[in-house]
Amino acid sequence: MSELRPLEVIILAAGQGTRMRSSLPKVLHPVGGRPMLQHAIDTAAALGAVRTHVVYGHGGERVREALGHNAVDWVLQAEQLGTGHAVDQAMPGVDDASVVLVLYGDVPLVQVETLERLLAVADRYTLALLTATLEDPSGYGRILRDDSGRILRIVEQKDASPEEHAIVEINTGMLVAPGRMLRSWLRRLDNRNSQGEYYLTDIIGMAVADGAPVGSAHPSTVEETLGANDRVQLAQLERIHQWRQAEALMRSGVTLADPVRIDIRGTLKAGVDCFIDVGVVFEGEVVLGSGVQIGANCVLSDVTLGDGCLVKPMSVLEQATLGNGCIIGPFARVRPESELADGVHLGNFVEIKKSRIGRGSKVNHLSYIGDTEMGGGVNIGAGTITCNYDGANKHRTVIGDNAFIGSDTQLVAPVEVGAGATIGAGSTITRNAPPEQLTLSRSKQTTFPGWSRPSKNKG
Ligand code: UD1
Ligand code: MG
Repeated sequence: MSELRPLEVIILAAGQGTRMRSSLPKVLHPVGGRPMLQHAIDTAAALGAVRTHVVYGHGGERVREALGHNAVDWVLQAEQLGTGHAVDQAMPGVDDASVVLVLYGDVPLVQVETLERLLAVADRYTLALLTATLEDPSGYGRILRDDSGRILRIVEQKDASPEEHAIVEINTGMLVAPGRMLRSWLRRLDNRNSQGEYYLTDIIGMAVADGAPVGSAHPSTVEETLGANDRVQLAQLERIHQWRQAEALMRSGVTLADPVRIDIRGTLKAGVDCFIDVGVVFEGEVVLGSGVQIGANCVLSDVTLGDGCLVKPMSVLEQATLGNGCIIGPFARVRPESELADGVHLGNFVEIKKSRIGRGSKVNHLSYIGDTEMGGGVNIGAGTITCNYDGANKHRTVIGDNAFIGSDTQLVAPVEVGAGATIGAGSTITRNAPPEQLTLSRSKQTTFPGWSRPSKNKG
């Protein structure tokens, strides 16, 4: 960031976004699970901005509602009269002594490192533009330079002559200017152009006329300057974002079965030697230890997994913490507020909710364990259900260390099974089962000698 002056960022986010064909304001559409505007706000924070001003307009209340938790200055642009007008709306809150960076609420992928280079250019010059060279520059403002390469002004596509249309260096829209000068240039803007708008880009010609040197920087890759105007472009940004994250993961020691078949909607931190199979979705904040393997088509939301965990295909884990060496799935579901100690095994069609499972305990088949405190070394037989809900309230089940619960048991909560207790298969346990003893509730098995099945009447 600028070494010399405090940085303020103005994010333009007032555009209508008609082409999204959405009731959701454009800048709230997510990329990587985060609204596009949130990306820009986070970028400003990463640059160390002392203040960030968000110029909002269309659907404004929804934007503020969704992102109101950010410590930013919300500026309403009631009428969209152009980018220059939009920036000007924020200027009452901008200090003359600051350096101002303009970003866009629908350009989420610009890299902090690129903007740091742009700010460094602004330190050496006065005004700094982020420009790029495109094979097809159509639609963008073009950068006009003199014979010695000095920037003269920007001409918008719709105002450009045929010769100017041939220029391939374009304005990405992002620029840096000193607060005091920006204010005076914006005051002098007019809207005498083909679109009848106050163009931010007209300040470049003014700076040149004032003798203020204008420099430029270029993005590391052109794709980071792309914006989303419709859902096709949104999908393109999503893929770029996903590829970047996949690339960073692979470089950090994670094997991806296919780097284009992973989706990280949030952040994923992983130790070395993890393997992630195809179709896995990560949401929120996910942390994987080392040597973790995630099978195909799993969804992991806000979970932390210890070293060496193995999550088999089609499992869904949400707001849970797993120790080392757990084996989960296939087809397992771990619901919020669950904590699994080291070496826990959960098998197919097992649902765990708001429960603590002790070290090495196994719930391998077709079970529901909710609101339960389970010790270590417990074996839960197939089809065991904690009946935690009486229709009005939730009740807890406590299972001591090394208990053995026979298959098809119902534990009607509140209930406690003592350490080392054995519950016979098929039991409905409604009272506490003492430790170290066999408890079962089962009707006696009867055989009727000589009984024969009814047969169909003939005729
Ligand atoms: C602008 C630049 C153009 C550049 C291009 C890059 C101007 C005059 N032109 O053109 O040189 O190549 O971006 O994409 O700046 N916005 C507001 N309020 C307004 C108008 C716009 O908040 O009154 C926001 C829009 O939501 C959008 C951004 O500013 O995010 C750019 O506006 P847009 O109308 O798309 O400008 P372009 O014509 O694309
Ligand atoms: Mg545009």
